Amino acid sequence: MKILGLSCSPRKSGNTAILLEEALSGAQQEGAETELFSVSGKDIRPCDGCWACFGTGDCHIKDDMQALLLKKVEADGIIFGTPVYVYSMTGQAKTIMDRMLALSAPGKNLANKVGGVVVVAGSIGIIDPVKDLYFNMVMGKMIPANLVAVYANDKGEVRKMEQGMKAAHSLGREMVQIAAKGFEYPAEFARNFYAFGTHTR
Ligand SMILES: Cc1cc2nc3c(=O)[nH]c(=O)nc-3n(C[C@H](O)[C@H](O)[C@H](O)COP(=O)(O)O)c2cc1C
Repeated sequence: MKILGLSCSPRKSGNTAILLEEALSGAQQEGAETELFSVSGKDIRPCDGCWACFGTGDCHIKDDMQALLLKKVEADGIIFGTPVYVYSMTGQAKTIMDRMLALSAPGKNLANKVGGVVVVAGSIGIIDPVKDLYFNMVMGKMIPANLVAVYANDKGEVRKMEQGMKAAHSLGREMVQIAAKGFEYPAEFARNFYAFGTHTR
C-alpha cells in the first residue's frame, strides 16, 4: 500500500507540507509506505495543449512532472495539498491538474485510487480549490476521502492548530483503511461520458 502526498506550495517545508507529513505519518501508522512530493524547487512546465497524451498517456514535456505522473500511477492513494493563492489553488497545483490529462489514458489512470485533500489559507478562499480538487477526483473515478482545511499564514503556524494536525493524521489513516477495502468502479462505467454535444452527441 502506497500513499503519496503532493504539496503544491512553492514555499519549502511550509504549512501544506507540514500537514501532509502529518497525514503521511497517519498512513504509516496503518502500515502504508509513504512519500511526500513537493513542487518546491521542481521544474513543472505548463501544458501546451497538444492533446497527444490523451491517447497515449505520454506527455512530451520532459520535466519533473514525468516522475510525478509515475508516482501517481504507482500510488494507492494520493493526498492533494495546496495553499490558497488569490482565492484559488496555486499556479503549480493548476499546472499539475492540467498535465494530469496524461492520466486519462486507459490503463494509466487514477481510477479507484483514494484521494484526500489538504488546503491551507491565511484567511479566505478555500472553497474553490476544494471544489476543483474533488471534481477532478470524481471525473477521474477516484474514491474521495476526507478534506482538511486549516487557516494559517506564517511558515509553520499550522503546528499550533492542534485539531487541524490531528485531522491531518486521521486523514492519512482513513486513506489507508479506505484503500484496503479495494473498491472498484464497475468496468461498464469506468469511462462514462458526462458532457454531451462536445465529445459526443
Ligand atoms: C501569492 C500569495 C497569495 C495568497 N492568497 C491568499 C488568499 O487569497 N487567501 C488566503 O486566505 N491566503 C492567501 N495566501 C496565504 C497562504 O495561503 C498562506 O500563507 C498559507 O499558509 C501558505 O501555505 P504554505 O506555507 O504551504 O505555502 C496567499 C499567499 C501568497 C504567497
